[in-house]
Amino acid sequence: MYGILGALLLASFVAVIVGGGEVSAGDPAPGNPARGLELLLTKAYLPADFDQEVFDALWTTWEEPLRSRARDVSPADRRRMAMERYGLTPHPDDASRSLQYVVDAAGRWTMSCLACHQGQVEGRPLPGVPNADYALETLTEEVRQVKVARKKPLGHMDIGSLLLPLGTTDGTTNAVIFGVALMRHRDADLNIIPATPQLFYPHHDMDAPAWWHYRRRTQIYADAFAPKGHRMLMQFLLVKENGPEQFAEWEDDYRHVEAWLESIEPPAWPWGVDAALVARGRILYAAHCTACHGAPARDPTVADGYPELVIPIDEIGTDRARFAALSADQRRSLPASWFGRGVPPPAAGSESPTGYVAPPLDGIWASAPYLHNGSVPTLWHLLRPAARPAVWHRGPTAGYDRERVGLAVESLPALPAGPLPAVERRRHFDTSRPGKSAAGHDFPDVLDEDGKAAVLEYLKTL
Ligand code: HEC
Ligand code: HEC
Repeated sequence: MYGILGALLLASFVAVIVGGGEVSAGDPAPGNPARGLELLLTKAYLPADFDQEVFDALWTTWEEPLRSRARDVSPADRRRMAMERYGLTPHPDDASRSLQYVVDAAGRWTMSCLACHQGQVEGRPLPGVPNADYALETLTEEVRQVKVARKKPLGHMDIGSLLLPLGTTDGTTNAVIFGVALMRHRDADLNIIPATPQLFYPHHDMDAPAWWHYRRRTQIYADAFAPKGHRMLMQFLLVKENGPEQFAEWEDDYRHVEAWLESIEPPAWPWGVDAALVARGRILYAAHCTACHGAPARDPTVADGYPELVIPIDEIGTDRARFAALSADQRRSLPASWFGRGVPPPAAGSESPTGYVAPPLDGIWASAPYLHNGSVPTLWHLLRPAARPAVWHRGPTAGYDRERVGLAVESLPALPAGPLPAVERRRHFDTSRPGKSAAGHDFPDVLDEDGKAAVLEYLKTL
């Protein structure tokens, strides 16, 4: 199916973005990381979202003067403009395609895990870096407009997005509630069952975590309620077209995908640091941060260890929407279903967690924005709770701020007055909205300004 071209494409892609992910030929391990990445890049597990004709016509829905600009440039430049608008990264081997969608021989585009889990920093697609640019709601709306205008059939996302919000801010998605809504129509063996439609869900947007943390976790998600395992990775495939036999058939693929996740190294800060400041920051970090976040994998001077602690919600004080969104019954039934069979059982008490897990901070410089809801644009702001912006605004593809370490944004006291077109509104992160608070995690305030500067410098090196 993939042929020589596929092999070449993977080889050069691996050379471009993969650090330590290769595995030697004939490795006896059941999962092969390179194969896992290849599957993510080339195999569609969902019905297609749109075809090339629709993608190439998206510009016809854009606001002026962008539309006229798109009309007057070459098709290649127009595709580049479309990728920038929707937060897609051009494929290193073929700039007419994006890393986040699988495109088949007939030109059909299908969303993959990489849509949310593969982004860029200064234009470089570092392996496993979350996609902080993905404009899923804008893309889906404009795809639907083009399909309606051309009398093309609507797909599952075009219809689903009329029922559920996909993401109210670019770079974050309502992914947890998609999962809850899809699981409602399955029994424990993943058979499709009738269920009365539920109208009200606790919608809230989440920032996808960096995939290089996977190897350090035993339980996943913001509240660490689910044990990790290759089957658990398959929840995103719960569309009605995929029945239980499909999941069984694809199970081996996800052993490879899991091996890819396990193999990803945190990316190293590519620019210089102030060594004296780093040395001071290391001492402060060990005194004030290690107890919760664990020792950084990359720092040889501290004993390894990641405690995977869940911190009570009132102590951490960050936004509660994600914490409150799942019931004990929902948290219990996911690991009790097919997804949890054959993997170690969840840790005791996982169905009623007390708060959020303190994530590892490896490669933290590359995974902005911060906190589980992506409400804090830079590490500088994370370290200064009182200076976090009420509203921050970004371009379609967020630039990188090397000084403050994170997304290059403009801070605003409130949303601009007057009606804001939806596309532009989604480029504003409004912390006054439900699920979007940037409050909490005040722990860095034990440090003075000099201490914060030193810890910021140290965080670059993790
Ligand atoms: C629409 C965006 C989106 C897509 C597509 C997506 N994810 Fe995620 N993923 C998320 C978000 C958001 C979270 C955080 C959820 C939470 O913590 O509650 C997450 C969490 C995870 C985690 C847990 C990581 C951790 O450290 O806790 C893993 C592993 C993961 N996803 C793997 C996958 C795989 C494999 C696929 C494809 C089969 C996939 N995801 C598709 C958005 C997405
Ligand atoms: C009492 C435990 C605790 C202490 C102490 C603590 N943290 Fe945290 N930290 C957490 C938790 C829990 C989260 C996740 C909160 C959330 O996402 O809502 C977090 C999140 C973070 C994040 C964002 C991670 C991400 O991927 O978005 C950074 C950065 C961070 N902490 C840095 C620090 C630094 C630096 C220190 C020391 C000055 C520190 N923390 C001290 C518990 C702690």
